[in-house]
Amino acid sequence: MLAVIGGSGLSQLENLETSHREVLRTPYGEPSGAVTFGRIRGRPVAFLARHGYGHIIPPHAVNYRANVWALARRGAEAIVAIAAVGCIRRDLAPGDLVIPHQIIDYTWGRKSTYHDGLDHAVVHVDFTEPFDGGLRERLLEAAKAAGVAVGDAAVYAATQGPRLETAAEIDRLERDGADVVGMTLMPEAALARELSVPYAAINVVANYAAGRADSRDGIRIAAIDAVLAGAMGRARAVVESLLS
Ligand code: HPA
Repeated sequence: MLAVIGGSGLSQLENLETSHREVLRTPYGEPSGAVTFGRIRGRPVAFLARHGYGHIIPPHAVNYRANVWALARRGAEAIVAIAAVGCIRRDLAPGDLVIPHQIIDYTWGRKSTYHDGLDHAVVHVDFTEPFDGGLRERLLEAAKAAGVAVGDAAVYAATQGPRLETAAEIDRLERDGADVVGMTLMPEAALARELSVPYAAINVVANYAAGRADSRDGIRIAAIDAVLAGAMGRARAVVESLLS
């Protein structure tokens, strides 16, 4: 079964023929909301809205451990995460989709491991390649088959939020090598790795990052929703194509 974690602008999968919803409990607390189970093109899918239904949980307060645990325990063989980003790299623009290949983590204070050392031996997982290579390839092929243009690589900077970045912070992220900036793929990606669930993401560019292009004098928050409304349809098309 494929699991999809939807981010800002994607709180449901329209073509999901829903069979049922389950409120799951985990040793780490409750996930962001009920998990929706169903089928797309006959294939089983589980969907979870990362920010809850109604978009009420900010990025730093998402219970990432419960979300990933619940999906893994309910049989997720792979997780596709959908997450809005601001773009830093100059060939990207609002509305674009990109499949990131690397992560730099600037988040802090999030519960970011199942191996917290309290009652188990210390565990280090390999995270050289934070996204599953095979799943990334399948997403790129699915996008091609669906006729959806997607970028094939990006370094994702995970910031703490919920505020957006300063212009100087974006300059620093660029110097560090980041192409896009978002607030949610960490610790999600690392937790999926700890549970050995293949994980890859579709980034949807919502805006130019702070201080760049038409965000030079500020990010117009109101414009973000309109961009996401258009672009999320294409992200959904990629997921559906992945399932055919
Ligand atoms: N910064 C961080 N996260 C984001 C942004 C941004 O500019 N846009 C959408 N998510």
